[in-house]
Amino acid sequence: MALKQKSVWVCTSCGNESLKWMGRCPACGEWNTMVEETVVTGRSGSDRRSAVVPGGGHRPMPLQDIDTTRESRLSLGNAEVDRILGGGIVEGSLVLIGGEPGIGKSTLSLQIPLHCHGLTTLYVTGEESVRQVKLRALRLGGDDSGCLIYSETLMENILEEAKKIMPGLMIVDSVQTMYTQTLESSPGSVSQIKECAALLLRFAKETGVPVILIGHITKEGSIAGPKVLEHIVDVVLQFEGDSRGAYRLLRSIKNRFGSTSELAVFEMTGKGLREVSNPSEMLIPMHGEDLSGVAVSAMLDGTRPFLIEVQALVSSAAYGTPQRSATGFDVRRLNMLLAVLEKRAGFRLGVKDVFLNMAGGLRVSDPACDLAVICAVLSSNFDFAIPSGTCFAGEVGLSGEIRPVSQTDRRIIEAHRLGFSRIYISAFGSPDNIPEGIEVIKVGDVPALCRSLFAKQ
Ligand code: TYD
Ligand code: MG
Repeated sequence: MALKQKSVWVCTSCGNESLKWMGRCPACGEWNTMVEETVVTGRSGSDRRSAVVPGGGHRPMPLQDIDTTRESRLSLGNAEVDRILGGGIVEGSLVLIGGEPGIGKSTLSLQIPLHCHGLTTLYVTGEESVRQVKLRALRLGGDDSGCLIYSETLMENILEEAKKIMPGLMIVDSVQTMYTQTLESSPGSVSQIKECAALLLRFAKETGVPVILIGHITKEGSIAGPKVLEHIVDVVLQFEGDSRGAYRLLRSIKNRFGSTSELAVFEMTGKGLREVSNPSEMLIPMHGEDLSGVAVSAMLDGTRPFLIEVQALVSSAAYGTPQRSATGFDVRRLNMLLAVLEKRAGFRLGVKDVFLNMAGGLRVSDPACDLAVICAVLSSNFDFAIPSGTCFAGEVGLSGEIRPVSQTDRRIIEAHRLGFSRIYISAFGSPDNIPEGIEVIKVGDVPALCRSLFAKQ
C-alpha cells in the first residue's frame, strides 16, 4: 500500500487525536496541549502490534492449563521498591516511573543497579553523558560491577545492543529523549513516545528482560507526559513530593502484578535516596511542648497506616473576604468542614481566615483526616493546645456526625506503637483488636467531640 503523510493534532497530556487544532482537549480537558504531528498512513500494522507473550502462544488456551510458575520475580535490592512492585520486578515486565524533573527518578534508577549484586544491568541514558552517570554513581556508592552504562537515544541501536548483551535488567532514562527512525516526528512527541514504549514492551515480552522506563511529567505540555503510556506499560509508579523538600513518595498507580494501593517513602540525602521504613517518624511533631492549632491524624495511605501532623491557623480576616488555603488537603473539603462547624456546632468561622497544612509535604485524601482537621482548626481558633499523646481518626459528615473509617483497628495499633495514649474515633464503629494501653474515645458528632476535648482542658 502506498505511504501517505497527513497531519493530526495530538494532546500531549492524554494522547487524544483530533483532525484540527483545539484550544482545549475534549478528552482530558487540559488547555493548550494540542500539538501538530505528522503520521504516515497505509503502512502494514502487523510488525508493530504483535507483541509475543512468552509461554502464552498464539492459540486460545484453557485457563487451567496456563502455567504461572514462569512468573518469577527479581529483587531490585531496594526493599521499598520491591514492596510496591508486589515483591520484586516480574520478568518481561515494563515498569514506568514518572515524576517531575528533579524529583529523583535518575537517582533511584541508578541506585537500583548499584544495589543489585551481581545482576547485569544495562542503564541507557539519553540525558546525561557516561561521565556524568559515573560521577553520580560515585556519590551514591554501592557495587558497580554488573552495571553497563550506554549513552544513546536511537531505539534501534539500543535494542540491538540489548539483544547482544541480554542483561538481567534494563533501565531507560528517559522515554522523552528516545526516538525511532521509523517515525519522522521529533523525540518527545506523542507518536515517538508511544512507539518507543511499544518497542521496549515488545523487547521485554520477547526476551523476558524486565525494563524500567523513566518518564517526565511536565506541566507546560511542551513534551508529552507519561499519561499517554499508562495503558501500554505493565506497572506505573509515580514519584511525588516537593523537590525542594527532603521527602519523596513513590506511589503505584497501576500494577498488573500486584496491588495499586502501595506507597514507599524516601528521603533525599547527600548520598542518594534513603528508604524510610517508618514514615510516621517524619510526620509527627518534633517539638516538645503542646502548641495550639496542631492535631495528629491516624491516616491510611493505600494499605499503610501513618500518623501525620495537621496544622491550622485561624485568624480574623484582615480584608473583606476571608481567605481559605490548604496545603496537602482539598480546599473544598476544608470549606465543607468549616461550614459543618458553623452550622452544626455554632462556631463563627465565616469571618475568619483559615490556613491548613499537612506536615511533610504529603497530599492526603483519606477522609479519616477530617476529624484531625476540625480539631486543629478549633484548637487554633480558641488557642488551646490538644493534649499531647492524642490522635484522631474519623470522617465528618454533612450533618456533623462522625462516621467510622476503614481499618480503624490498624490505625489504633499504629498509634499505640508510636506511643500515643488516646485516640478519638467514631461512636458508630466497633473495632476489634484494641491493644492494651491506649484509651479509645468514641464520639458521635461534633458537639460531643468538643465537649470531650474542652472537658480535658
Ligand atoms: P535527579 O535524580 O536527576 O532527578 P530526575 O531524574 O527526576 O530529574 O535528581 C534529583 C535531585 O536530587 C537533584 O536536584 C540533586 C539531588 N540529589 C541529592 O540531593 N543527592 C544525591 O545523592 C543525588 C544523586 C541527587
Ligand atoms: Mg533525570
